[in-house]
Amino acid sequence: MIEKLKNTLKSVIESGLKKEYNEDFVVIVEEPKRADQGDISVPVFSVVKQLKKPLPEVVGLITSIIKESEYSVLFSEVYAIGGFINLKLNKQTASKKIINEFFESTTPVGSSSIGNGKTICMDYSSPNIAKSFSIGHLRSTIIGAAIGNILEKCGYTVVRINHLGDFGTQFGKIIYAYLHYGNEELVKKNPIEELVKLYVEFHELAKENPSLEDSAREIFKELEQKNPKYVALWTWFREESLKDYMEIYKLLNVSFDSYDGEAFFYDKTKPIIQELTDKNLLVLDQGAMIVDLGEDFPPALIQKSDGSTLYITRDLAALFYRKNTYHFDKVLYVVGNEQKLYFEQIRKVVDLMGYPYKDEIIHINFGLVLQDGKKMSTRKGKIVRLIDVLTEATSLSLNYINEKNPDLENKEEIASKIGISAVIFNDLKNYRANDFEFNLEDMVNFSGQTGPYLQYTSVRITSILQSVGYVPTENLDYTLFDDEQTFEMLKALSVYDEVIEKSAQEYAPSVLAKYLLNLSSLFNTFYGKEKINVPNAFERNTKLTLLYIVKSILDDGMKLLGMQIIDKM
Ligand code: ARG
Repeated sequence: MIEKLKNTLKSVIESGLKKEYNEDFVVIVEEPKRADQGDISVPVFSVVKQLKKPLPEVVGLITSIIKESEYSVLFSEVYAIGGFINLKLNKQTASKKIINEFFESTTPVGSSSIGNGKTICMDYSSPNIAKSFSIGHLRSTIIGAAIGNILEKCGYTVVRINHLGDFGTQFGKIIYAYLHYGNEELVKKNPIEELVKLYVEFHELAKENPSLEDSAREIFKELEQKNPKYVALWTWFREESLKDYMEIYKLLNVSFDSYDGEAFFYDKTKPIIQELTDKNLLVLDQGAMIVDLGEDFPPALIQKSDGSTLYITRDLAALFYRKNTYHFDKVLYVVGNEQKLYFEQIRKVVDLMGYPYKDEIIHINFGLVLQDGKKMSTRKGKIVRLIDVLTEATSLSLNYINEKNPDLENKEEIASKIGISAVIFNDLKNYRANDFEFNLEDMVNFSGQTGPYLQYTSVRITSILQSVGYVPTENLDYTLFDDEQTFEMLKALSVYDEVIEKSAQEYAPSVLAKYLLNLSSLFNTFYGKEKINVPNAFERNTKLTLLYIVKSILDDGMKLLGMQIIDKM
């Protein structure tokens, strides 16, 4: 609301000045940082300069433009300090406007149209087949899904792509190992674990017998040439791995429009190499083909001396395919900080190729997950199975429920919703590019800056609304908003649309996550101080209305982040 009001005031003042002087003006309307400057402030220096008139005259003029407009009722005070005209909201009329806007809006809570008509391709999760789904891939999945939801909310068409790492020389090794000492039943039972085991075993044997490397290379080459036996095995490994990943996606409630990974783009690298050749960008370097990227970046290795392609070659093929298939306005890659340089290289190659969309390629980078200050990773010979992490979060949540509300129905199901949402929220509340510490105990805590705290706030409001039998009504007492804290809370509610837009523009779910924490804490302070079910109907209705709006926004925001809404806990 403040944002809208700022924009409206800006045009009111600009057109008022134009009417007076028949000239165009650009006026700034801002939210002051200091409390003594009111809720909205208008610096007038630029107008003084343009008109070459004394400050008091300009201040007087702009003040009267504001006072004569239909918006003047929203302000209780319009006063000048130095070169600023400061406006204080009239708490009652402003509240009325905010609440009416909420109920009259034809669009759902939190809406924006900044993305209407635009398409964004999002490449996220993208794990490597036959390898364990790492904590890094978990981050990519959670962050990518949330950004996707937020962008969709802003009107963008979002294409969700899981660019599976399903291609590469490691498949030669795994196939070799499987053919020599693999077991079908075991792979079916525990695909990832078995395939990783085979891969590790291969390396141990190859240490003693280096010729195995050649055999594996040979197999991979034949796989590239579509040897049916190898293709069948590869397809099977891929399917089995994907089944494993699907369990995680189901728990996290995420889905994709495409699972076309690196293998899908293998065939499509040829025309890229041709184009690079035609554009004189490929340089022969010890038998390999590279693109020289100048001073700023190391060269991009496009083709190895044995003729095989690389990760970057397939990524370039994928990029052009996406442009031609989806006509994206932007393509986002949700990948860890460690591939920063890599995406710079891709942008540079695209630029050198003469395509104008370097700036549409955006690396949504993220930091590491730490445990006791160190990178959380697979312990030697033992895989940190993500599924186990999510299961543990669920069981910790169940402990909490057993402590606080042991008779709750469907405890297990609710515990799972709490546990998984806790992991999601804990990730998203941190700015994505930063590393963060992973501590399950802390993140499932029902109080503190956690997911369960948000869910708890929502549940608390649900139960109040239900117990009183809330129905929306216009019979409200706006004098309640003269109270500073109550008004602050309503003001916080009125900026939800802007928060979502900011989250979308910065590709930062943490903006939304932090806002939701703040909202919950404003509510909990309010609730701690105020009695809700008071005898006076107007007062009661007003408080319930406020709670109802808090809950609508809280639930909507949690859903956008990928969390589950529950009604009891
Ligand atoms: N599979 C890659 C990895 O695990 C991530 C792929 C990201 N997407 C992409 N188009 N490069 O590191």
